[in-house]
Amino acid sequence: MRITMVGTGYVGLVTGTCLSNTGNDVTCLDVDPAKIEKLNRGESPIYEPGLDELLERNKAAGRLAFTLDKAAAYGPAEVIFICVGTPSDEQGRADLKYVLAAARDIGDAIESAEGPTGLGASDKAKIVIVKSTVPVGTNAKVRAEIASRTSKPFHMASNPEFLKEGAAINDFNKPDRVVLGVDSEDAGSRLRDLYAPFVRQGNPIFTMDIPSAEMVKYASNAMLATKISFINEIAGLCELYGADVDEVRRGMCADARIGNKFLYPGLGYGGSCFPKDVLACISMGDEVNRPTDLLAAVHKVNQDQRIRFLEKVDAHFGSGSGPADLSGMRIGVWGIAFKPGTDDIREAPSITLMKALLERGAEVVAHDPVAFETCRGVMGDSITYAGGMLDVVEGADALLVCTDWDEYKHPDFGAIRAKMRAPVVFDGRNLYRPASMREAGFVYHSVGREAVTG
Ligand SMILES: NC(=O)c1ccc[n+]([C@@H]2O[C@H](COP(=O)([O-])OP(=O)(O)OC[C@H]3O[C@@H](n4cnc5c(N)ncnc54)[C@H](O)[C@@H]3O)[C@@H](O)[C@H]2O)c1
Repeated sequence: MRITMVGTGYVGLVTGTCLSNTGNDVTCLDVDPAKIEKLNRGESPIYEPGLDELLERNKAAGRLAFTLDKAAAYGPAEVIFICVGTPSDEQGRADLKYVLAAARDIGDAIESAEGPTGLGASDKAKIVIVKSTVPVGTNAKVRAEIASRTSKPFHMASNPEFLKEGAAINDFNKPDRVVLGVDSEDAGSRLRDLYAPFVRQGNPIFTMDIPSAEMVKYASNAMLATKISFINEIAGLCELYGADVDEVRRGMCADARIGNKFLYPGLGYGGSCFPKDVLACISMGDEVNRPTDLLAAVHKVNQDQRIRFLEKVDAHFGSGSGPADLSGMRIGVWGIAFKPGTDDIREAPSITLMKALLERGAEVVAHDPVAFETCRGVMGDSITYAGGMLDVVEGADALLVCTDWDEYKHPDFGAIRAKMRAPVVFDGRNLYRPASMREAGFVYHSVGREAVTG
């Protein structure tokens, strides 16, 4: 099948590469010349485990190409996946400007391509698929935008993406489920055919109407965000009542109705999806006068979680009320990416925390296995980037753990203690046991568990 991916970000690039890997002829289009130049040099603009090898193999086989040329990308495509960003606007709504701009380009391309459907002599209509996460009703807007530019027939489909950054290749190749919202049996059967190689183990392809498919994505992300805020709220109570959230979690998650996934307390959710998707869902409710009170609380709990963590730092270094003066202090940070396995720092808790530390006068030294470049784009030279994780603790007055990368899980605390000016750890990911940290001679603050104060 000839496929065009619109947008070569985390979703478009991974999806396009995996679709080329099953033998399709894939063109990835972007409006960012730097990204396309990089990809044409054989370099990936994002960090995603396993992606480099797949890119190289499929590019070499001539099945995967990258371009800025819209006419060349859209003209011959049988299937067009819109994978552009849908960031929050100032009101928290999903900003559809990139999606609708792509729709206009697609309409123009269909109109100017040869043949009754823009596919030469073929009478098969192109399928335009919205893979970006969009509010219910967006496919209808995209359809109207395209139809305003061409009278040739085309199909619309919604195919929300569920891949997780850091495990994106595996998630796309072995999806729990594929959701297809379609407007015709022809589009449904062609797309089921496209996805058949990815569900050979029997995982379902759900074909449904387009609004339901659009809603599945928001409902899924809102549910996952709810689980995180739920356990963080319980963690807050645990701290005040002397319970240990890890024990509570174990006891609670043994109930099969609850399950043990996505119930880890920490710094709250970040990344490019949950924060914006929860806000977009709240806006969808507001637009039809149906307040989504639960989701509003999920969002608030998540915002508060970072503030509460900072309050621990302020309480340790300050006089007890308000932000502490951290002038002359050096604070180390382990982990910048919003989660392990990615260089994505969008809405990362580490960024909020580092900015707050700088505002309090601290010198910040940070380490991350892969997210330096993306971090530099936001934080510039306001912080120091450490080459190794132990460089961060050299002369540090405290260490903040912000991302649960594997390499931070069993560090040599003897060596760390010897390097630090003061043995103080604020662990936003509950990577260590309070009893072990006490034994190792640390002041230790984590989430939802006893503080080790010496
Ligand atoms: N990142 C994830 O883990 C993830 C997972 C599931 C769904 N999603 C959703 O997928 C969508 C894309 O997310 P992402 O993280 O890949 O975004 P991204 O910001 O990494 O990539 C978007 C790309 O689209 C390009 N673009 C913008 N306008 C364009 C146009 N008119 N023509 C061609 N290219 C254009 C941008 O230059 C950019 O490279 C969002 O709606 C997001 O919510 C993301």
